[in-house]
Amino acid sequence: TEYKIASIPGDGIGVDVTLEARKVLDRAASLNGFSLRWTEFDWSCERFAETGRMMPEDGVSQLSAFDGIFLGAVGFPGVPDHVSLWGLLIPLRRAFAQYVNLRPVRLLPGTTSVLAGRSADELEMVIVRENSEGEYSQLGGRHNTGQPGEFVLQESVFTRVGVERIIRYAFELAKTRSGRVCSATKSNGLIHSMPYWDEIFAEIAAEYPGVHSEQCHVDALAARMVQQPDRLDVVVASNLFGDILSDLAAAVTGGLGMAPSGNINPPGEHPSMFEAVHGSAPDIAGQGIANPVAQVLAGAMMLDHLGEPGAARAINSAVEKVLADGSVTTPDLGGNSTTTDLGTAIADALT
Ligand code: NAI
Ligand code: MG
Repeated sequence: TEYKIASIPGDGIGVDVTLEARKVLDRAASLNGFSLRWTEFDWSCERFAETGRMMPEDGVSQLSAFDGIFLGAVGFPGVPDHVSLWGLLIPLRRAFAQYVNLRPVRLLPGTTSVLAGRSADELEMVIVRENSEGEYSQLGGRHNTGQPGEFVLQESVFTRVGVERIIRYAFELAKTRSGRVCSATKSNGLIHSMPYWDEIFAEIAAEYPGVHSEQCHVDALAARMVQQPDRLDVVVASNLFGDILSDLAAAVTGGLGMAPSGNINPPGEHPSMFEAVHGSAPDIAGQGIANPVAQVLAGAMMLDHLGEPGAARAINSAVEKVLADGSVTTPDLGGNSTTTDLGTAIADALT
């Protein structure tokens, strides 16, 4: 089998980590009897600076025939973050109905959690983030500009279809894991959107008597993620809450350099897109020291999604072997190896 993959390295460390991840994925493919046909797109802030667009006007249709999209990260100083996000990432997520942002986190061997004394099995959870609506909305605007009564409105959109499908996805996922779902809410402060979210959560929970469900205000949930992470497994959250909680979840496990994510279109009608949780890290860009593990694991998620779970497992094992060995690690893991060193070590560890 040959899979057609669109690669969008993007900006900053996105370029370095996708290069290493492709090396690992190609080797995993050849060892498992399939191949990946890569097409590279230079869509980025650099392109924006030259052409005024992050991607061409027909960008979505150019990608629609691919089996998967592999994204580095976009964003760079000089281009406002809302331009890079709304010019590429958000339009792709929405055009391809990638309404699930799946962000698994776990403590990998050889890495230390900032939570002293926690073992690997206590630190394994998955954030199911709503990825198509919610707080990330273009509705709103600035009023009375320049006057004493100046104000802005930023509206959220929660549709029945949108809320039901993400919550149902979380319950289905919980059936395959620990059988526990926790929903992030804030219905004491956000008095329209979150009570609606909670109402639909309760309706769907009733359809899954075998799954333990609970809801938690997002502030308390953040504290629990640090103090009692073993009480969490599947966490379902709105677009904004899920974004924040997944960086926190990554931080309490191995750090941002280790956390992959998938933007999934569950029916498989459109390509899904895989990327690291982290961004383009301008503070370390161009130094060749970014940790490629998050991007490599995002690649494993992509292969699993494409129907190659054997190759995905092999990549996870190779990452674990290299990290447990500990002799090749990037500075964020306390070592002094380069992005390329670590990528090569992972590729060489594949069997
Ligand atoms: P960031 O995730 O790029 O960096 C946060 C911190 O983590 C930095 O100190 C960075 O050096 C470190 N870090 C991140 N990934 C690392 C890795 N693989 N290895 C070692 N250290 C790593 O977040 P930040 O600084 O908020 O955003 C930078 C740019 O990235 C912004 O323009 C932002 O909009 C964009 N961004 C893009 C995303 C995407 O394309 N999906 C997601 C998040 C941010
Ligand atoms: Mg984020």
